[in-house]
Amino acid sequence: MRVPEKGMPKEEIFKTLESYKGKDLDWKSGRVLGYIYYPGQKAHDVIDEAYTMFLTENALDPTTFPSTLRLENEVVGMTANLLQGDQQVVGNFTSGGTESLILAVKTARDYARATKPNIKAPEVVMPVTAHASFYKAAHYLDVKPVITPVHDDSFLADVGAMRAAITDDTILLVGSAPGYAHGVVDPISEIAELALENNLLCHVDGCVGGIHLAYMRKLGYPVPQFDFSVPGVTSISADLHKYGYAAKGASVILYKNKELRKHQIFACSRWTGYTVINAAVTSSKTAGPMAAAWAVMNYLGDEGYMEIVREVMEATRLVIDGINRIDGLTVLGEPNMCMFSFASTSKNINVYRLADALRNKGWYVQPQFARANSPANLHISMNRSTVDQAEAFLKDLQQTIEALKQEEISDEARKLHAELDKLSIKFDDQTFLKLTEMAGVTGTELPDKMETINQIMEVLPYDVSEWILIEYLNNLMVPGKHA
Ligand SMILES: Cc1ncc(COP(=O)(O)O)c(C=O)c1O
Repeated sequence: MRVPEKGMPKEEIFKTLESYKGKDLDWKSGRVLGYIYYPGQKAHDVIDEAYTMFLTENALDPTTFPSTLRLENEVVGMTANLLQGDQQVVGNFTSGGTESLILAVKTARDYARATKPNIKAPEVVMPVTAHASFYKAAHYLDVKPVITPVHDDSFLADVGAMRAAITDDTILLVGSAPGYAHGVVDPISEIAELALENNLLCHVDGCVGGIHLAYMRKLGYPVPQFDFSVPGVTSISADLHKYGYAAKGASVILYKNKELRKHQIFACSRWTGYTVINAAVTSSKTAGPMAAAWAVMNYLGDEGYMEIVREVMEATRLVIDGINRIDGLTVLGEPNMCMFSFASTSKNINVYRLADALRNKGWYVQPQFARANSPANLHISMNRSTVDQAEAFLKDLQQTIEALKQEEISDEARKLHAELDKLSIKFDDQTFLKLTEMAGVTGTELPDKMETINQIMEVLPYDVSEWILIEYLNNLMVPGKHA
């Protein structure tokens, strides 16, 4: 691979880029039941224009580009207001949920360093349903995640277990509103009360749900308390690039006050170059996402968001009820908003096979492994683009289930597990090759059938499956592989 000696004509550039999209999921079809949050063409055009208008402005330096400071403060202010923050609440714009959560953990760590210097090995207590990004934050920041169980059937955080997990080294308690996997809102009031009792910080991960839940509440839907109205909540993350329907690269991290937020900020004036002062992780950054987020929030307004939320909630009810009516499937827990997961109640239905079969019909649903007390399941996040497809989905799902029930029950899974049991797993090339061969992938290509891969990944010890994933990606992300 090299930069072409002579530049390509614009037409060819876009023809080529379009062709690269060839194998991507067709999200405009409304059949991609995850990853995508699309507010409709008109709002999309506004986002597009605002993003492009601020593409080149560098939000690294608000003294040079004061517009970026204004945009950030206004977007943060609107988000804080939705989450019932008072005048003391401050926050920042970040590139996404992961950056917001890394910052929340970093702030908690550095606040503890300043206020509880006796803590040498800080711990974050979080339910097993907390997002993977907390593990990433803990990994990057050398903080220990202490994992607590969730209740059977409801998948809600077990606050008693969180209480028992608190030690002298605890710095932060975490609750999700809602957790991604099952779409249920943890008992935030109880978690925050526990934090208050123990003089701890309490972060609410409202990345996926914060904005949607705020509008559900405005519409009069029953919504558990989850935001700054709850005493003891000290920080909240809310992604605008999810149910805020902004362009990707848009999240907000909020803190109860400036005293806490100051532990997030980094400054460096001791090197030979320009002065660095960053509120978030990234330095140089396009102001496009913040302009786009500002634009969509102002374009939709409360009315626009409420219309979307109402439509999406009606479609969600339809799909949840429809799935529960299908013999052999059940929705897990009692989802609070428009995201949920469903599992199989029949030996004949393997959810990973079901996901592949649905994929062949143009639907994307997301497999989630059996972990803790959560069985293997398929996840769905509804959004505006999926509303019109709700009935079509249920029809295809029903038909696919009927077809799967006719298939002979394969004992492939049992054979795979027996083979895995025999394998003495070492972290070496041979084991990697053996496992990828069993999964039916070459290790350097993107697979199109996921059933076997999912079955293997589900049962491997976590350190092995994570090692395999790292090796696999390391092999995949090599220039020229997809030439
Ligand atoms: C609850 C929750 N937290 C954090 C994240 C991470 O967000 P991102 O993918 O924007 O980094 C997600 C993503 O779905 C989420 O659902």
